[in-house]
Amino acid sequence: MVTLLNTIEDQAARRICADYGDAPDALLEILHGVQHLHGYLPETALRTVAHTLNITRADVHGVATFYHDFKLKKQAAQTLKICRAEACQAVGANELIAAAEKAFKVKIDEGGLTVGLEAMYCLGNCALGPAVLVDDRLYGRVDIEKLKSISAKHAKKAGGRS
Ligand code: FES
Repeated sequence: MVTLLNTIEDQAARRICADYGDAPDALLEILHGVQHLHGYLPETALRTVAHTLNITRADVHGVATFYHDFKLKKQAAQTLKICRAEACQAVGANELIAAAEKAFKVKIDEGGLTVGLEAMYCLGNCALGPAVLVDDRLYGRVDIEKLKSISAKHAKKAGGRS
């Protein structure tokens, strides 16, 4: 027997499932809806989705972990997405990542409170690597000083840190 909690995440997940007729075929859309609402996929919401759609938690977890865009942990206020595919690696992406981890005191792909770093695998800007994506804005030829400046600029725009 599954015991569902009556958390905000559970209620919202039930509502989103209902919007899609509680249809298991709509799992992807439902997960997008849950993530859009919370910024990530809370465990309680995943459990509720599985129960409501009458599918296994393993099925839900499999889909949630297969797609890179789904986040299972709460995300930092700002995410700096750094390309580490071959062309960007050839022009210093790994060095940029190492410097960014040191500067922002966070490991890549491990979340963070204020700033998070996320590895990407080609942003379509190969000729201008290392490439970085922040808030859907693409930057090229990024070094650590430019990355700090980009971070500060976007934080200012968001009304966060300066
Ligand atoms: S390899 Fe980095 S943008 Fe394509």
